[in-house]
Amino acid sequence: MDYLEIEGRAKLKGKINVSGAKNSALPLIALSIISKEPFKLSNLPNVKDIRTLLHLLEILGAKYRFEKNVAVIDTSEISSTTALYDIVRTMRASILVLGPLLARFGHCEVSLPGGCAIGQRPIDLHLKAMESMGASIEIKNGYVITRAQNGLKGAHIIFDKVTVTGTENVLMAAALAKGKTTIVNAAREPEVVQLCQVLKNAGIEIDGIGGDELVVRGTEGELPRLKEVEVIPDRIEAGTYLCAGAITGSEITVQKVEPSHMDAILTKFRQMGLRIDIHKDSITIHPTEKIEPVEITTSEYPGFPTDMQAQFMALALKAEGVSIIEERLFENRFMHVGELLRFGANIHLKGNIATVYGPADLMGADVMATDLRASSALVLAGLSAKGITKVHRIYHLDRGYEALEEKLSSLGAKIRRLKE
Ligand code: UD1
Repeated sequence: MDYLEIEGRAKLKGKINVSGAKNSALPLIALSIISKEPFKLSNLPNVKDIRTLLHLLEILGAKYRFEKNVAVIDTSEISSTTALYDIVRTMRASILVLGPLLARFGHCEVSLPGGCAIGQRPIDLHLKAMESMGASIEIKNGYVITRAQNGLKGAHIIFDKVTVTGTENVLMAAALAKGKTTIVNAAREPEVVQLCQVLKNAGIEIDGIGGDELVVRGTEGELPRLKEVEVIPDRIEAGTYLCAGAITGSEITVQKVEPSHMDAILTKFRQMGLRIDIHKDSITIHPTEKIEPVEITTSEYPGFPTDMQAQFMALALKAEGVSIIEERLFENRFMHVGELLRFGANIHLKGNIATVYGPADLMGADVMATDLRASSALVLAGLSAKGITKVHRIYHLDRGYEALEEKLSSLGAKIRRLKE
């Protein structure tokens, strides 16, 4: 197993390119199922989760080429509709194949994702939505067996909670359904918007794009031709590298980003006293004498993303004062706290609120990654700690960060990948 060794306190400087957004690429790859024509995606991040979903499609009978961040996927010969446990257990987002498989083939069998490190994460809202579109649902041997032999019907769906992949699943199913589907309380994440735009470019009528009520008019089973798409920049990766600049007191620039997707993140940097320069598709962060404490509450887009909570907690350790971080989306997304304590941090956890006492004089330590974003918080802490840090179990990082150590090394970080 690989681990990362970091020698902390190196100053960083320079520019790096941000990769395409994993969370936009995943639903777009799943979307390829609703078309029989090859679908080309560029700016696809070469990370484990993307390779996992491509592999899942291959098991179903699809063919693909994936080179130099460009993939062409051909699902014309899909012969199976079963997403096996072995794949789904490694990546919950595999659930994204449910909507498109059901819509195109009238049935599918998807292994039920279990709980995960950050919480229970049920898929009840996905299933209820499919039921209201006329599907029958049965849970058998750990699989959700979904059927809609006569095709899906448009429906009025009101989500009890805002769900990103739930909204995406319904959008993909509604695209081939008969009639009009309305999604109330839809997710508004930029990744959802990109999915809507790709559907729209394929000739599917969608109203309300970017809002919390979406109306889709389905093709009644006719398979659309999907036009080539460039995956939007990864706002979470960009935010993570800006945190690296802030936590090491360095000036760094992230390029190939979409600043308008990052308002909530950039606002928090500013509240912490960091100067940010925004250009058309790049953002520069400047060092500051004093990092101010901050209050953060995670929420759905356009609020502060839960996927940046752990990284900002690492940064809050450098602030001069007490920061309060409240996690509202996932019940157990504080696994990184125990690991941050190993650096000598002082964090008090009560329920879903973490009180972070700064500034902490962090010392390098052996720490263990627990989930994707928690892992990047440990790398950030390692960059600012005195001495050597070893981050173990970095397969979590490899799920979502493309060439992390290469990118950080190019900025001057002392980081290398080693084998246990
Ligand atoms: C997506 C992102 C993930 C991000 C999360 C929240 C992808 C591939 N992943 O995950 O990186 O952290 O959004 O921004 O895009 N819920 C239910 N029932 C359901 C579905 C969700 O109760 O059927 C709950 C969840 O447990 C959670 C909340 O709704 O508390 C939001 O989850 P959701 O938006 O669905 O997260 P994901 O789409 O899995």
